[in-house]
Order: sequence, then structure tokens, then C-alpha cells
Amino acid sequence: MKIGIGNDHVAVAYKKAISDYIREAYGYEVVNFGTDSSERFDYPLSGKAVAQAVVSSQVDKGILICGTGVGIGISANKVKGVRCVICSEPYSAKLSREHNNTNILAFGARVVGIELAKMIVDSWLTAEYEGGRHQKRLDMIEEIEDDNL
Ligand code: RB5
Repeated sequence: MKIGIGNDHVAVAYKKAISDYIREAYGYEVVNFGTDSSERFDYPLSGKAVAQAVVSSQVDKGILICGTGVGIGISANKVKGVRCVICSEPYSAKLSREHNNTNILAFGARVVGIELAKMIVDSWLTAEYEGGRHQKRLDMIEEIEDDNL
């Protein structure tokens, strides 16, 4: 399993802590698409980079972190085929996998403490998409994408 990770200048140390956690707890490869500098870095750049890596199957899933998770998550959701959940608790992270088949998780370094973030990551990485009745709605989301190219 390969996880693409991206961040802006607000979340440099936080991104490193989450990357180390995923490597140690899961043994997954973590590919860094974010900045490692404290210089201002525009979050759409790494949101887009991780999103494109996910839809092109360069990585299996993505994780994005900025101050709130909002800007970087919105950026990722502009890429066709991305379903990015922006959340700050494990329940939505889990359900977003089971019902919405999210392929990117976003959260905020200024919002979520690092231990809670690890719980969110655990919920999201271990939950599986249930398919069935949920697929029709995901197909409808795809139709929205196709109607608005
Ligand atoms: C950067 O100041 C901040 O706007 C960014 O990290 C993020 O919170 C945007 O959504």
C-alpha cells in the first residue's frame, strides 16, 4: 500500500509525524508531495499533486494536511475522480470510506491534535467501502463531474 501525503507550510512537522506513524504502524510506503520548508507554500499545489497521484494510481490513497484541512481538501476535490473527506473526528473518517469510498483524507494541523489525528487515520485506513446501495450515489457524483467539465 502506498500513501501519498501533502501539506502546506503550516503542517510540516505534523506531516512528518503522521508519515512516521503510518510507516511504523502499518508498514506502508508514504510518498511525500508536500513542502518541508516553513516558507509560505500555497496549499492548492500539494492538494493537486496528491489528487493526481491518486487518480493516476501512482499511490493508492492520499492524506492532506493544512491549517484547517479545508483549502487543501477543496483543491483535491477539484480533480476528477477524487472523493476527499475533510474531517476532524474518526466517525466521519470511517463512514466516508464505507459509504462514500473516499480516496483522500484531509484534516487541519491547527484543528486536530496529533493523537486524535492518528485515530482519524486509523479509522480511515482500516475501513472498507461497502458498495451496494452506496454505489448508485457515487455514480451520480460522477455524472455531476461529467456534466460540468
Ligand atoms: C494558511 O495560512 C492557511 O490558510 C491554510 O493552512 C489552510 O488552513 C487553508 O485552508
